[in-house]
Amino acid sequence: MKIILTGPKGSGKTTIGRELAEMLGIPFYDTDSCIEDAFLAETGRSASFREIYNEKGEQYFRDLENRCVRELSGKDWCLIATGGSTMYNPDSRNSIRENSLLILLKADDEFLWQRITRDGLPSFLPEKDGRRTLAERNTRLYQALEHISDIVFTVNDENQDRVVPELFTRLCARIMLDMRSPSTIGEIIRTTTFGESHGPAVGAVLDGIRPGIELSPEDIQRELDRRRPGQSAVTTPRNEEDRVHILSGIFEGKTTGCPICMLIYNRDQDSSRYNGLREVFRPGHADFTFWKKFGIRDHRGGGRSSGRETAGRVASGAAAKKILADRGIRVTAFAQEIAGIQGVTEDFSHIENNSVRAADPSVSSKMEEAVLAARNQKDSVGGIVKLVIHNIPPGIGDPVFFKLDARLGMAMLSIGAVKGIEFGAGFASSRMRGSENNDRMKDGSFESNNAGGILGGISTGQDIIARIAVKPTPSIAQEQDTIDLHGANRSIKIEGRHDPCIVPRIIPVIEAMAALVVLDALEIQNNLGKNDIQ
Ligand SMILES: Cc1cc2nc3c(=O)[nH]c(=O)nc-3n(C[C@H](O)[C@H](O)[C@H](O)COP(=O)(O)O)c2cc1C
Repeated sequence: MKIILTGPKGSGKTTIGRELAEMLGIPFYDTDSCIEDAFLAETGRSASFREIYNEKGEQYFRDLENRCVRELSGKDWCLIATGGSTMYNPDSRNSIRENSLLILLKADDEFLWQRITRDGLPSFLPEKDGRRTLAERNTRLYQALEHISDIVFTVNDENQDRVVPELFTRLCARIMLDMRSPSTIGEIIRTTTFGESHGPAVGAVLDGIRPGIELSPEDIQRELDRRRPGQSAVTTPRNEEDRVHILSGIFEGKTTGCPICMLIYNRDQDSSRYNGLREVFRPGHADFTFWKKFGIRDHRGGGRSSGRETAGRVASGAAAKKILADRGIRVTAFAQEIAGIQGVTEDFSHIENNSVRAADPSVSSKMEEAVLAARNQKDSVGGIVKLVIHNIPPGIGDPVFFKLDARLGMAMLSIGAVKGIEFGAGFASSRMRGSENNDRMKDGSFESNNAGGILGGISTGQDIIARIAVKPTPSIAQEQDTIDLHGANRSIKIEGRHDPCIVPRIIPVIEAMAALVVLDALEIQNNLGKNDIQ
């Protein structure tokens, strides 16, 4: 993405463009200077672009211009000021317009005439009828460009000092519209998370919760404590208290039906540890892709791509889990596999009694040892989390695009480091015969659960069972190859305090997202007027 600023002579595009680029923190180029630089490189002589045109003729000038424009067109995240000559030429216009946002500066004829004749009549205007010629040229330019411009801005005597800040505001609004950075999930039960890992706070706004439901800060805090960093040797040593502040939506221990805003201050952020990351991309993290999309990134801990964003999800999910639990629906997740070590037995009472949150007592300490060994080797490990949703009534979920498994899949895959999800027999069902895979029915119930509790996107009433693949933590202290903002090869060793395995801390996040999806699906169903969940 790049920004093109164009307009007639005298509209101030070079000065405005340079200031705007500085404000945006991106490089600035203007096509006239590029043409002059290219001429100097080719001939060893300095000349203004007008002199080049007069001396070498139109064909030479256009070829040089096309070459310069093609080179500039390949650049990303920069601001290019260019005049009518580039924008009239279809080849140049098409190549520079690609992947760009076009700003057209306009000005009234009198304003432009006063500006460009300040030091006498410029050579490109005839002595006779110069003013009329200028007006006709500008009208032609506006007619050609207005309909393809993203922002049209008129400069005049009154607003000259405000042009750059006003353009900056309009540009940011426009970029935000185009970029989209969705932070909200849900139809009726809607959660919006906010905040960055090294900003002042993170949190969530949870909307759509019915009034009169008992909900205390302790209900939220209990879940946040499970996700909190610094819990054990197998999690990041960043020591955050993660205390929730409920700003709205709860009165005298009950929900009011209004948005519940929950804030969690960041206390133990140490941004100095990230100084070395300002210019380089961490392999496996979202640094490169955020840079490519937004042209700006918070290098301190990954900003919105940080695992810290999930604190807001857990706060909202805690409320959803509580409401579901009051209705007998339990959402439980545990580490089924870490570093290739698989759990077999499922003792749910063991989950919160071991640092990796495994349900098999015979493997939890082996998993913990594998995580610590990886950390000692400046490395990390991944694993598989099993999710069980118990006691969900049959008939919940919507066919086609909002299938319950599709919604759960989307919610899980929206969590950083999640790389896959399967329901029931999942990928293994692809190797089964229909006779093996089908969950036969007898005496009013199912004889097996290969479907994972969902058929046709709608709950069967059995447990919903999913397995979620979590990749090894990308930030590792080992030396790795990477590149920097300029594309140069660099090597990187990541300082900072990271989870050697994300699985233990992602478990409450997975439960939170599952609870939010299920509660939303129940409310959607309730809206149909049947299956009231009260
Ligand atoms: C709870 C949680 C904690 C995380 N902790 C870290 C961490 O300490 N270091 C790190 O590099 N990534 C961590 N991540 C993973 C990154 O956020 C994630 O890999 C990154 O945003 C890239 O996204 P992707 O893996 O989904 O492609 C964590 C994720 C979660 C959900």
